[in-house]
Amino acid sequence: MRFEGRDIVSIKDFTREEVEHILKIAKLMEPLTRKGSDLLNGKILANLFFEPSTRTKLSFEAAMRRLGGECIGFSDPTTSSIKKGENLADTIRVVENYSDIIVLRHRLEGVARMAAEFSTVPIINAGSGSEEHPTQALLDLYTINRELGRIDGLNIVFVGDLRYGRTVHSLAYALALYDVNLYLVSPEILRMRKEVLKDVKKRIKIFEVENIESIIHKADVLYVTRIQKERFPDPEEYEKVKGSYRITLDTIRHAKSSLNILHPLPRIDEISPEIDSTPYAKYFKEVWYGLVLRMGLLALVLGAV
Ligand code: NCD
Repeated sequence: MRFEGRDIVSIKDFTREEVEHILKIAKLMEPLTRKGSDLLNGKILANLFFEPSTRTKLSFEAAMRRLGGECIGFSDPTTSSIKKGENLADTIRVVENYSDIIVLRHRLEGVARMAAEFSTVPIINAGSGSEEHPTQALLDLYTINRELGRIDGLNIVFVGDLRYGRTVHSLAYALALYDVNLYLVSPEILRMRKEVLKDVKKRIKIFEVENIESIIHKADVLYVTRIQKERFPDPEEYEKVKGSYRITLDTIRHAKSSLNILHPLPRIDEISPEIDSTPYAKYFKEVWYGLVLRMGLLALVLGAV
């Protein structure tokens, strides 16, 4: 297993053994989230965000700083030379001189892979269009494992925009490394992409179900996502599905007491705030696990552990 210098472009590039190693190293970071460490002293991370972000960008930054490293970057490309017409390849060739690792988010699929080909420093894909968001999948797995003590044997239900949501694509691939049953619930036009279904079906059982109510009693994890309004080619299509699902106390009244509700966030209206104070709600705890996971990942890719 080699992590130092490695690009994190797709979760499909990882074996189960590698994923488990990442989760194991992340666990070691838990006590360091407050205490800090000098593990990454002198290292610089560059955040290049061509799309909005709160958690991913800030958690990479916080993770780097907690480990003694430093951060540079932009979250508004209109303030960079991209605005003048510089292409991404040139931007990468420049930024690699200033940093030891680049975290990149872009609205286009395939951009992280392309950047990794140009870059001499490792690229972490922080979201590539509707395609993938591998570090989110890792932190989702970390959350499930920490909260439920295992991943194998669980019934996992995805609810929401399975077509344009990148987190569900990466998480489906990641779960395919385990022995789980995956249930999919979504509006008809937002069903899971065919190519993802085909790949994942080779390894685990997938069931596309009509509604949450029919499956909620079996669910160990309910993974809810927002409708990706900005990715709809036609705004009228969005209007048709807007507000079409919402998790309330009523939706989960037959749930197991150990049910975990996860959400990559941001939440719009798909989880009613009344859920927040129940023991089912893990989406804010997940934010902390995200910091821990990214600390572990940075330490691995930068060769500090
Ligand atoms: C997600 C993303 O950017 O894909 N956010 C995140 O990183 N936690 C989910 C979303 O935007 O819906």
